[in-house]
Amino acid sequence: MSTSREFAPPTTTGKARTDGRPRRLVDGVPPSWSATAYADALDAGRGPLFLRRTDGWLLPLEVERWCAAADAADMSVLERCEGTVLDIGCGPGRLVAALGARGLPALGIDVSEAAVAHTIRLGGRALCRSVFDPVPGEGRWSTALLLDGNVGIGGDPVALLDRVTRLVAPGALLIAETVPVDVDERAHVRIVHLAGAQGGAGTPFPWARLGTPALVRYAAQAGWHLEAQWTTGGRCFVALRSRRTSSSAEPANSTAVMSSQRARKPSADRPVANR
Ligand SMILES: C[S@@+](CC[C@H](N)C(=O)[O-])C[C@H]1O[C@@H](n2cnc3c(N)ncnc32)[C@H](O)[C@@H]1O
Repeated sequence: MSTSREFAPPTTTGKARTDGRPRRLVDGVPPSWSATAYADALDAGRGPLFLRRTDGWLLPLEVERWCAAADAADMSVLERCEGTVLDIGCGPGRLVAALGARGLPALGIDVSEAAVAHTIRLGGRALCRSVFDPVPGEGRWSTALLLDGNVGIGGDPVALLDRVTRLVAPGALLIAETVPVDVDERAHVRIVHLAGAQGGAGTPFPWARLGTPALVRYAAQAGWHLEAQWTTGGRCFVALRSRRTSSSAEPANSTAVMSSQRARKPSADRPVANR
């Protein structure tokens, strides 16, 4: 998701979708990111695709950028990554692929089967898995990524940060992208193609948008401290460091992390709604 753009007022300029293709849902997964509209956009490599708030405001999703190769702003993140890297909500996998090309062991997880398939086609490792479900290498990841607006996953940043804390090793790095303005917003959204922007296709799911101050505040509650923040290419990033002590501290082990991967369907991508 673009973090450099704001929710915009609804538009009426979209044309109706006429391809007549059936809407397919992934078994057992609520029709949010698993919705066909997202899969179709990833297949096409382009939008227009939006998160539509229940009040009609639209947040453009930067499908074209996500489907392209990692750019200079992405590289500013990747060059800070340490050890084993977990890309949470990896989308079509440009970051996982670029990390692999740099020789860093990386795994992408995503609730969208289409996104996982794209990542694997790029040569990356990926699992169709919700971040809130069991993940290989729990407690041992050296770096976690929450980019492209993924701090919004689940619509409850405190719960997400708490989950990430349990996924990574003590002293690990979390690199997250924030909205370039000071917002702390929760909303229910649907994924809509421009044509569906007025109709409200799909089931609403919780999402969040955070500027750096809000993210740093919530991260501190979860035991993370701010190590760096930077802006490049109109995008804002923070690097957070987790506490260096844990009762169950284990060293990161890339072999164990990677060899424990098994394909499994996600059970949920809406932790707030399901709790
Ligand atoms: C805003 S998009 C970001 C795309 C991505 N970072 C990229 O590089 O293309 C959010 C992504 O997170 C995924 N996602 C949503 N909820 C998730 C969850 N609970 N666990 C894992 N991935 C999730 C979506 O399927 C989607 O691919």
